Order: sequence, then structure tokens, then C-alpha cells
Amino acid sequence: MKAAVLYQRREPMRIEDVTLTDPGPGEVEVALAASGVCHSDYSHWSRDTWTQMPLVLGHEGAGIVRRVGTNVTRVREGDHVIIAFGVRCGECAFCLRGEPFLCTPSAQPGTHMFRGDLPLNMFAFVGSFAERTVVSEKNCIVIRQDAPLDVASLVACGVATGFGAVLNTAMVPPGANVAVIGAGGVGLNVVQAARLSGAARIIAIDLLDAKLEYAREFGATHTVNSSREDPVATVQRLTGGFGADYAFEVIGIASTIRQSYDMVRKGGAAIVVGVAREDEEVSFSAPTLMRSGKHILGCNYGSTRPHVDFPRIIDLFMQDRIKLRELISRRFALDDVNEAFRALHAGEVARGIIEF
Ligand SMILES: NC(=O)c1ccc[n+]([C@@H]2O[C@H](COP(=O)([O-])OP(=O)(O)OC[C@H]3O[C@@H](n4cnc5c(N)ncnc54)[C@H](O)[C@@H]3O)[C@@H](O)[C@H]2O)c1
Ligand SMILES: [Zn+2]
Ligand SMILES: [Zn+2]
Repeated sequence: MKAAVLYQRREPMRIEDVTLTDPGPGEVEVALAASGVCHSDYSHWSRDTWTQMPLVLGHEGAGIVRRVGTNVTRVREGDHVIIAFGVRCGECAFCLRGEPFLCTPSAQPGTHMFRGDLPLNMFAFVGSFAERTVVSEKNCIVIRQDAPLDVASLVACGVATGFGAVLNTAMVPPGANVAVIGAGGVGLNVVQAARLSGAARIIAIDLLDAKLEYAREFGATHTVNSSREDPVATVQRLTGGFGADYAFEVIGIASTIRQSYDMVRKGGAAIVVGVAREDEEVSFSAPTLMRSGKHILGCNYGSTRPHVDFPRIIDLFMQDRIKLRELISRRFALDDVNEAFRALHAGEVARGIIEF
């Protein structure tokens, strides 16, 4: 099968013939239908991070189950699945608390992808920039067969994270004032989840007018181009001088994380969704942390419980209550994955997807 292999960061990925080993006990082989291209894929290409080369990136995938290993009980051949990334062992203290997004397993799964004898790491235990992959059945969320798989792929990361940030991490109530810094593939889902929650004002902030246009389509009531206007002062002005009840940082930069804190009202909450560089730190005035009563909430994978949240998101889409198809602004073949990265970095897409 074909996969996009990264041998060295910041070099183009190479489309190569790769061997996929059989699913073991509790594992499932999935033929990918589509994989979204998330900024986290790009970050592991462009930055020095904990991932090891060679690496098959891609963690936002959906497809059809082709084979199952022994002891697989939850999924069957032919099932349509969204692949949740990372691990959810089901047994650690975090999984047992209902926080599988914090799973700390006793052992990590090995790889199923090889180039000759050379093992290739599968990013986030998925590696969806490949025609097929093998994952734990625990990571396969079976969805209704009438849901389109291209759209479903986006639910695996960007949509689940954006919706989860609003509904699970922050639990935004109706009438709230919400600010969203970064109107990309994830931020647009924060915007539309805030609309679904009945937020009164949804203020989208980005450097690019084209992204702010998208944000309007997805439900933003106000937009701020932060290359021209101070976003903190503008959010304060738009909220009667108080600040937002909730501000979501969906970029991953220390300075915008700090902005999110500064633009919430006393007692409000800043939600950190963006993944910053490994060595970045954010500082706050220590007495203000206490006096302001503001909350800072880390949001890992939208605090999602995939088996609960993914089918719900798909149902909302099938009822036309949320926009997912509109997120896909360009479609690429696997051969063009490097071009998909360029387009993401250039800010040309809401989301690009690789279609198989
Ligand atoms: N918490 C999680 O589990 C999780 C899951 C998925 C993605 N992420 C992270 O979320 C972030 C966003 O991912 P994405 O796929 O939406 O990326 P994206 O590239 O699609 O969107 C980022 C947006 O931020 C804007 N932007 C960049 N710098 C800015 C600045 N200084 N001020 C205002 N706007 C700015 C860009 O124009 C773009 O619209 C990334 O850090 C990604 O790694 C986190
Ligand atoms: Zn992602
Ligand atoms: Zn666990």
C-alpha cells in the first residue's frame, strides 16, 4: 500500500510502498476513505517535537473496517468507523474516571507499518496519511453507514476538539459571550459549537480576513482582525467593558494564550486548545490570578469521550444542524500531501483533506 513517509522534519514527505502487518488481538485494519490535515500534523513536520522519524503523519481519519484480529468484539468487517487518535486503554485511572483523553497506558502499541525492514512510526497511533492502517478496536468509533466518510474524517480531530472545547471543557451555557482566537479548522468548530450552545456573542479573531469570512459563515456574530485591531480591547468593548465569559485560544502561541486570559471577564475562563512549541511558557501576574477569579482550562482533544461524542456530532450533521462539509475547502490525493501542507501553512484552507 502507499503511505506518505517523513524521514526528516521540514523535508517533503515521500509517497512510498509500505507493508502493513496483520491486525493482532483486539486490533482492526481500516481502509482509509479520507484524512483531514490538521495543524498538529504540520507542527510535527515543522517543529522539533517528541515524535521519532521515520514517521507516517495523519491522525484525522475515517474509513471502512477490512479485517479484524482475534478477540475483537466491538467492530466488524464492513463497519464505517472514525478513528480516535492516541490511546484509550480502558483500564488506567484516567480511563476509569471517564477521561480517556488523558489515558496513561501501562504499555504503548507498536507500529504496523514497515518500509522493508524499517519500522515506520504511526503518528498518534493512527498514521492516516496511508491507504490503510491498523489500530486498536478501542479507537474505532462505528458510525451510521449513511454518513459520508469524507466529512466523518474531520470529526476524528478538528471537529471533536472544537465541539468538545465548548461542550465538554468549558460547558458554555446559553447567552454567554464567547471569544475565539484562531479561526482555522479547529477554531471554526469552536465557533459553531458556541452557536449551538446558544452563545449570545461569538467574537472570532484571526490575522486573515478570509478566515474571518469563514467564521461568519459558521456563526460568528463579530469578527476582529488582530493585525489591525487590539483584540483584548475590542473584546472588552464588545462586551460592555467586562470581557468575554469564555475565550478559546486555538492557535498555540504563548502571546495569544495570554490574550485569551486578558480578554475574559473576572470569573471567566480561558480555554487553551492550541498546542504551543515544546519550550514555550506563559506568564501571568500572580496576585491577579487570585483576585480576578479567572479560570484557565487546558483542553486536550476536546475532553472528548469519542464513543459518546462522535456519533452525536454525526447525527447533528445528518440533521443539517451543523456545518461540516463547508469545512472542506480543498481535496488532495495522497501524492499531493506536501501541497496540502503548503496550503495549510499559507492559510488558504479551512480544512484540506486527503482522499483515498
Ligand atoms: N487541543 C487539542 O487536542 C488539539 C486538537 C487539534 C488541534 N490542536 C491545535 O489547535 C491549533 C489550531 O489547529 P488548526 O488545525 O485549527 O490550525 P489552522 O492552521 O487551521 O488554524 C490556525 C488559525 O490561527 C490563525 N492565526 C495564526 N497566528 C495568529 C495570531 N497571532 N493571531 C490570530 N490568529 C492567528 C491562522 O490564520 C489560522 O486561521 C494548533 O495548535 C493545533 O495543533 C489542538
Ligand atoms: Zn489534530
Ligand atoms: Zn487509559
